[in-house]
Amino acid sequence: MNMNPQAQELNDVIIAKNPVIFELLSDKGRGIFFPKKGILGQTAEAKGTKINATIGAAIEDDGTPMRLQSIASKVDLDPSLVFSYASSFGRLDIRNKWKEIIYEKNSSIKTEISVPIVTSALTHGISMAGYLFVNPGDEVIVPNLFWGNYNLGLANAYDAKLTKFNLFKNGGFDIQALKDSLMTEGEKKIIILNFPNNPSGYTPTYKEMDEIASIIKEAAQAGKKIVALIDDAYFGLVFEEGIAQESIFAYLSDLHSNVLAVKIDGATKEDYAWGFRVGFLTYAIKGGDAALYEALEMKTAGAVRGSISNASNLSQSLLMHGFASPDYKEQKRAKYKIMKSRFNAIKEVLTDSKYAEYFTPLPYNSGYFMCVQLKEGLDGEVIREIMINKYGIGIINLNNILRVAFAAIAAEDAKELFDGMLAACKDYEAL
Ligand SMILES: Cc1ncc(COP(=O)(O)O)c(C=O)c1O
Repeated sequence: MNMNPQAQELNDVIIAKNPVIFELLSDKGRGIFFPKKGILGQTAEAKGTKINATIGAAIEDDGTPMRLQSIASKVDLDPSLVFSYASSFGRLDIRNKWKEIIYEKNSSIKTEISVPIVTSALTHGISMAGYLFVNPGDEVIVPNLFWGNYNLGLANAYDAKLTKFNLFKNGGFDIQALKDSLMTEGEKKIIILNFPNNPSGYTPTYKEMDEIASIIKEAAQAGKKIVALIDDAYFGLVFEEGIAQESIFAYLSDLHSNVLAVKIDGATKEDYAWGFRVGFLTYAIKGGDAALYEALEMKTAGAVRGSISNASNLSQSLLMHGFASPDYKEQKRAKYKIMKSRFNAIKEVLTDSKYAEYFTPLPYNSGYFMCVQLKEGLDGEVIREIMINKYGIGIINLNNILRVAFAAIAAEDAKELFDGMLAACKDYEAL
């Protein structure tokens, strides 16, 4: 492939700083760059000129963004924060703020991390990570319980081969299975770590987190080059004692120069803003410095520019408003309490031994979901249909594992839900 000189410049920085990262980049990742000399670059240079006829956005005669009053009247924000384009990197204020928030929520990160790049929420962040790191045919290691959209976002989009490792053993994280999958043939390893996990609602204990980090380190010491895609969609929703509160990103951020940690997170679930479509992609690696991170940020922003151009300015502005509000933390705590009460209600209901004849919960301690494993011989799909049609209860069937989104139900409905599930299992048997 003919390398664009601007991409080459970024690659040269990356190779000089840490050649492993260059090896981890996909062909597309090596080829991408943020066009400094293009329309955006020229527009940036023209900022502040008396007559600025650069960018493709219309301006009123008074210099404010051209806008329709029928829309503007609904939004109580300065029009420049609403109607204008945001940068492909994301707005600098929210990027810096999110970086600060990552450090605040993960106080054991002591090292330098990149300035987050804004994506159109996590799905897009995962897609951008696929763009940058996955070559056709590359294996991506996922747990055997994983968010199904990795199929579209990585397998369909970038021809990744999703390879599963067993998630649970003896009621906890199956460390050996993860180790085995990392130690298979081949130097480059792409792994997805998603805690709290969708669908299981599992976050490792402190000890398990240490063990996960240790085996990733051992693999790196053995010569594996690892890019860890950390899907932190449900970060912050841990409901039990003894469960790790910080992201695995914190554990990997300064682990080994062969381990690139890519944190994919966002406001979607952390700030209860699903439709805003604001997420972030943040890098950390042992020895990483501003120049290295800037090269990775430029590549990521280039990939964003080529896919969605930029994320919603309005959404970024509303979030910034939230972050700056004195009540923000208190409001988040209040919502957390509601979520925890639903989690507790489920735990309480499932202490009743009557359910065990038909289904048993998989380990869960966090997030939005929990799963139950149906007993041999039961058909999850038929049971799901009976639950809808006879009992008016909706759950998700994943190959005879039933996923319950407790985040979406009132605590007082927990018992009715599982009683309905139990009744549907009995109905199935009687068919
Ligand atoms: C594990 C996981 N990652 C990512 C996402 C997608 O998040 P977003 O809506 O920000 O794209 C979800 C949402 O369902 C999810 O469960």
